Order: sequence, then C-alpha cells, then structure tokens
Amino acid sequence: MDLNLVPKDSPLIVALDFPDAATALALAGRLEGSVKWLKVGLELYIAAGPMFVEELIKRGHSIFLDLKLHDIPNTVAGAVRSAASLGVRMLTLHAAGGPIMLEAAKNAIANLENPPQLLAVTVLTSMDQAQTTAIGIERSPAEQVALLARMGIAAGINGFVCSPEEVSKLRELTGASGVLVTPGIRPAGSEVGDQKRIATPTEALRLGASYIVVGRPITQAKNPVEAAREILRQISG
Ligand code: C5P
Repeated sequence: MDLNLVPKDSPLIVALDFPDAATALALAGRLEGSVKWLKVGLELYIAAGPMFVEELIKRGHSIFLDLKLHDIPNTVAGAVRSAASLGVRMLTLHAAGGPIMLEAAKNAIANLENPPQLLAVTVLTSMDQAQTTAIGIERSPAEQVALLARMGIAAGINGFVCSPEEVSKLRELTGASGVLVTPGIRPAGSEVGDQKRIATPTEALRLGASYIVVGRPITQAKNPVEAAREILRQISG
C-alpha cells in the first residue's frame, strides 16, 4: 500500500475491554510508553465514567471512545460535543442514524480547533444476512456497507470502523484522506476467539487500514507489554 496512507501517529489501538476502572487502569499503566491509543467501549465507559476517561488522557493516552451513538440528531450532536470537551480523539456513531444525524454530529464540532475524528459504523460485523433480513434490509451486508459508507461520505464523514474484509472497498470509497479503523486483528498464531473476519496487523494495514484495534491478543496475553511490542515490531518492519 501507499505508505503515505499510514498516519505518522502509531496505528495500534488497544481495546480496554474490562468491566471496571481498576483493571483497565492497571493495564493502561503497564502499556504506558509503548501504546498511545486506547479504546474505551460501552462496558467500561458505563462502569467507570467520564472521569476515568479524563484520567487516561491526563496520563498521556489518546482515547478512542467507542459508544456507537445512534439517536435523534439533536441528542447525538450534544453527545458529540460532550465527548469532544472530555478530550477524546476518536468517537463512533452509527451511519444508520442517517445523513441528518451525521451532519449534526459533524457540525457540532466543526468550530473546534482540534476536533475528534468521527468514525461511522456501517453494518455491525455481528450481523449476517439472516440478521439484516430480519430488520428489513434486502441488500447483502456488503452492499449495505457500501451504501452506508457512500451516504456517510456525502454527509461529510470520512472516518469508518470496518472489518478487514471491508477495508479495501472503503479505502477505494474514501480515498487517501479517509480514516479507517479496523478491529478483528489477530497476530499470526494467536487465538481467534469469537472473531470471524480476521487479518494480521500487517495485512490489515496493507489492505488500507489507518489504525488497527487489538483487544484480547494483548489484554489477555501473559505479558501484554511484550505482545503489544511484538505487534509494533511487526508493523514497523
Ligand atoms: O479482543 P478483540 O481483539 O476481538 O477486540 C476487538 C475490539 O474491537 C472489541 O472492543 C470489539 O468490541 C471491537 N469491535 C469489533 N468488531 C467491530 C467493531 C468493534 O471487534 N465491528
């Protein structure tokens, strides 16, 4: 891939999928100095709250707040403003909220000097054809991803969360300026767990990902710091 697409920033984001602040802070502490980006999702955010996020930021981490917002435009705009004032650097919202919701989110932070990167989620990777059909979508999941991505881009959103399977299509749609964040990453030889569409860190970046999200291969490793450093070695070499 064109190396200009890889941000100078480190592309590794570690998913802090823990049920409480103490466990998450302990791991964040161990990763300090090796990993800059941490992802805080619904489980941890609901348990630990905004002050916990501020604490991570104070310690020098960049935070990807993965709350997958999906509500009426006014409510989402307010939530995006609140997240921006916390100081998070990436924030997710559902493209299925529609173009007016996406535009409201974008406009809510348009005047900030250094706004967080908004990332749209298209079709959840847990949704297969049976699930999308059940909610009335006739297109295949892949077609629905492309439709929602085009709609998001038209609404001014150039960041997406996408599986390794979707990343090259989305890179085609967004061009070099798109910010593509890809979970479902498994270093060669690691446990696959419940993930289905996976790629190694190097493959995902070669396919066009700007950032990779890695959870259990680091958080459940015997030595999380070494596991993170090994991934960093692989992607830099
Ligand atoms: O442990 P693992 O590496 O599978 O963690 C991946 C992280 O990325 C988890 O926080 C998961 O919720 C998130 N994620 C995902 N697939 C998506 C979107 C988010 O695995 N499509």
